[in-house]
Amino acid sequence: MNAKNPVKITDTTLRDGHQSLFATRMRTEDMIPIAEIIEQMGYHSIEMWGGATFDVMHRFLAEDPWERIRTLKKYMPTTPFQMLLRGQNLVGYRNYPDDVVEAFVAQACDVGIDIFRVFDSVNDERNFETSFKVIKAHGKHIQGTVCYSLTERKLGGPIYNIDYFVNKALKIQEMGADSICVKDQAGLIAPYDAYELIKALKAKLDVPVQLHTHFTSGMGALSLMKAVEAGVDVIDLATAPFGMRTSEPAMEPFIVAFQGTARDSGLDLNKVFEVGKYLETIIPKYKRFSDQTRFSVIDTSVLLHQIPGGMTTNLVSQLKQAKALHRLPEVHKEIAIVRKELGSPPLVTPSSQLVGAQAVMNVLFGRYKMVTNQTKDYVYGLYGKPPVAIDPEIQKLALKGYPRGETPITCRAADLLEPELEKAREATKDVAKSIEDVLVYALFPNTGLSYLKWKYGLEPVPESVKPVSLEDVEKEEELARLAREGKLIKKEDCQK
Ligand code: CO
Repeated sequence: MNAKNPVKITDTTLRDGHQSLFATRMRTEDMIPIAEIIEQMGYHSIEMWGGATFDVMHRFLAEDPWERIRTLKKYMPTTPFQMLLRGQNLVGYRNYPDDVVEAFVAQACDVGIDIFRVFDSVNDERNFETSFKVIKAHGKHIQGTVCYSLTERKLGGPIYNIDYFVNKALKIQEMGADSICVKDQAGLIAPYDAYELIKALKAKLDVPVQLHTHFTSGMGALSLMKAVEAGVDVIDLATAPFGMRTSEPAMEPFIVAFQGTARDSGLDLNKVFEVGKYLETIIPKYKRFSDQTRFSVIDTSVLLHQIPGGMTTNLVSQLKQAKALHRLPEVHKEIAIVRKELGSPPLVTPSSQLVGAQAVMNVLFGRYKMVTNQTKDYVYGLYGKPPVAIDPEIQKLALKGYPRGETPITCRAADLLEPELEKAREATKDVAKSIEDVLVYALFPNTGLSYLKWKYGLEPVPESVKPVSLEDVEKEEELARLAREGKLIKKEDCQK
């Protein structure tokens, strides 16, 4: 390989890959057998922590999230470890006070995270200030992120145009970012828009540019290809069995596509095949967590109304509960209106849930007849400042009688939050043995405390969170097959 400018690759298999396809359920024990081959790949980085992993691991897998970093580091001592951090929301769903953010990020640095991809759900860069400081102090890599969003089908219009993204990126670079990521969580970016955007960013920025997109709409691979042509430094890909659908585009075709060109990645295809082959053998354990409701590998609704798949799942379940599933088309229309009234935030955790839930309320009970607490906090400014001003009428309506006050704040949201770390130490003093334990509780008080009790044998570990073996899965499938063929007498039938 003698490529002039090899495209660098972040492998997302161990985080976004299984988060997107298997509800984040992959266990550390299933990562270990491929860790050494992945280490030999020479990836720019491997994304293996953050996002939903911390929540899912302690809650549904009874695994210590911190331990995963230490364990994998033993097998992968040289490849940089990357995590996804939701800015002041860390790996949770609300803004945490600065003392919790400082302790969490410092611990992640100490345990072995090398690159922090930091984003904010309304693109308010003030929500980066605290985490950036800690990452820098530990000499680790800050990847500042701008969430990609649209108000029209393609890039442009009054809000999400090239200037918006370039100006955001410049501001984040000025705050000390070592690289910039455009994070297209919903797979909205179209190939020629990716080309224009990456060209513009490369022309203005001094630091490397990375593009993160999803295959969801079917455009992901095309857009990454155009981004590489435009000079993007790093792209995110997943090994094929954990790629495509709502995950990242698959790694293997990219390696071949750029072979022999100026941007040849130089990666060893055979090694990726080995990883893929192994993943196929463990997938039976995780298949139950994948969405198999449609045959198509792409979600065409994203092309139509830009509403990411995960959000539609939530809407459908909310409407089902209210016995109003037939009103989904109305909700889709209402989402666009609510989003505009709330200052056109990007639709990403947690802003996507907030807009979706309020739109459902508006359709079911009349516009803003009921305002969710999350909407009230958002309008007050607790999530940060949205890209454009919130509609003043809606603001008045939402903040009527709001306990913190009827005038929204303009300061950084976390400036209003009281410290919480000491309280968390106090609350866990009988069970926590380290700052890592205290942080699990500080982020997730209910499920965190249950987890700590399992960890130290104070309460039995429930069957539902224990690992299943391939043999268990085979037995289950055999039973299901017999039941389908009517060859199985069910327990219930015997009791009748
Ligand atoms: Co993603």
